[in-house]
Amino acid sequence: MVSVLFVCLGNICRSPLAEGIFVQMAADAGLSEILKIDSAGTGSWHEGELPDRRSIQIAENNGLKLTHRARQLRPKDYFDFHYILTMDETVHAHVTRAHQARPNAISIIERMRAYDPLAGAILEVPDPYSGSLADFEETYRILHRACGAFMQNIREKHSL
Ligand code: 4NP
Repeated sequence: MVSVLFVCLGNICRSPLAEGIFVQMAADAGLSEILKIDSAGTGSWHEGELPDRRSIQIAENNGLKLTHRARQLRPKDYFDFHYILTMDETVHAHVTRAHQARPNAISIIERMRAYDPLAGAILEVPDPYSGSLADFEETYRILHRACGAFMQNIREKHSL
């Protein structure tokens, strides 16, 4: 089992979309039983909610159904997930700090955008929350590219 957790701020826009894309990629690769995939947010504002309707719509346009319910990141996650992929620098700093405070935590923390072959110098997945549907489409394209490269990376690393 290899476990992967996608983390953003609210867990309603970026990370549930990444989760949905990666779940589909895992299924397509025949790895559903081997990969444990989840998402969470550093904030608790949207606890229990379905993703933002614009993330749901963009997912649906691409054949994905998002059913995740938002949840806040919890200390146990640093012991349960091999990989934590962060969406921006605020999230990355939060996760890194909290992980460092727990000496036996096991997670490898990486920036999601670092896997995007088309990323520029800024390794963030822009927050589309206050943006338009076009911004959510761009978020989907970034996440799709990054998820594809990350999948390739862990398949090589873990001989999957
Ligand atoms: P996300 O977007 O981190 O991609 O889920 C956001 C959603 C909600 C808020 C911020 C970012 N918020 O402040 O409520």
